[in-house]
Amino acid sequence: MKTEQMQTGNIVKPLRLGFLGMGWIGKNRLDALVKHGVARPAVISDVNMENAMAAAMDDTIVCDSMEKLLLESSSLDGVVIATPSALHAEQTIAALEAGLAVFCQKPLGRNNGEVSEIIETARRENRLLGIDLSYRFLKTVSIVEKLIRCGDIGRIFAIDAVFHNAYGPDKPWFYDPELSGGGCVIDLGVHLVDLVLWMFDFPSVTSIHSRLYANGMRISGRDKGVEDYAAATIELENGPLVNLACSWKLQAGTDAVIGLTFYGTEGALSIRNFPGSFYEFKAERYRGTSCEILYDSSDDWGGGAILDWAGKLLQGGLFDKSVMEVQKVTEVLDEIYKNS
Ligand SMILES: NC(=O)c1ccc[n+]([C@@H]2O[C@H](COP(=O)([O-])OP(=O)(O)OC[C@H]3O[C@@H](n4cnc5c(N)ncnc54)[C@H](O)[C@@H]3O)[C@@H](O)[C@H]2O)c1
Repeated sequence: MKTEQMQTGNIVKPLRLGFLGMGWIGKNRLDALVKHGVARPAVISDVNMENAMAAAMDDTIVCDSMEKLLLESSSLDGVVIATPSALHAEQTIAALEAGLAVFCQKPLGRNNGEVSEIIETARRENRLLGIDLSYRFLKTVSIVEKLIRCGDIGRIFAIDAVFHNAYGPDKPWFYDPELSGGGCVIDLGVHLVDLVLWMFDFPSVTSIHSRLYANGMRISGRDKGVEDYAAATIELENGPLVNLACSWKLQAGTDAVIGLTFYGTEGALSIRNFPGSFYEFKAERYRGTSCEILYDSSDDWGGGAILDWAGKLLQGGLFDKSVMEVQKVTEVLDEIYKNS
């Protein structure tokens, strides 16, 4: 079924989507689409059939491999991929080459080689490719982004970016660099790097200094194990210095510490979670020693990126070249590992 055929008068038929990987985030994103009435799970594929069955609706086809899912491609509008990160490149490319739009979890690939190949395939096949860079869709992020773009705090010269998850992932594959592509940098740092580069329209990066640790011991690269603490200093061309830190299982005294503070010559803007929550965020503006709260309510933001992709697909969206910017994010992550 082609997307352009689905819109009749004012009634928009929900997208028919295939879902590959129905673990924690796959189910969460499926629920967001169904809740908003924009898509239905036509096919769910997971090697763990229990996971697939638990998320299926009455008319959902359930299977256990990508090959079986793609047998249904002519009846699908797109595929949502939420499998372990090492599988993203192969599965996304196969779905795009089958003529389907794809929404893939972050990280899109384990390194810039994989990411570039995926994006080139989407461009060649002229298919809409979305990535779950979900933090772009926080209300606090959109408030701060607008203020930064209109020069509200003058010239920005420094950014503190932190993402500490005091639990760390609970699935073994996250700790195998072959399957995950790395530790807290590729898992959490990806959001921080993406937010900063995106808010500054993807400037060139002039230098990156980084250090990685595992169990309190310094490590280098990502071949032998995964880092659970990382610090990096990233210098942007004609722009601010970014001080980044992220971790798994840090003794942080709370569930999570997530924050992005932009320091300018006329003030500062901050986005931070509270109180240690993964779901509630505050936006604040600082002038000297005073603090103004700009936003401090909870925000149902997790489905933001997939709903955005689904909305574009419903409009017949094809390849969108803005996705190419993500290669710059992956280049920074690769350099953080390389320079460590
Ligand atoms: N956007 C975000 O903020 C965000 C948040 C959490 C996780 N993620 C990403 O989502 C992805 C999945 O993470 P998760 O926490 O849901 O993991 P998970 O382990 O809970 O889920 C993965 C699912 O994929 C299935 N699977 C494994 N191999 C498969 C295959 N060959 N074909 C089909 N299914 C297969 C597993 O059985 C499991 O159900 C990761 O890449 C992770 O980085 C993104």
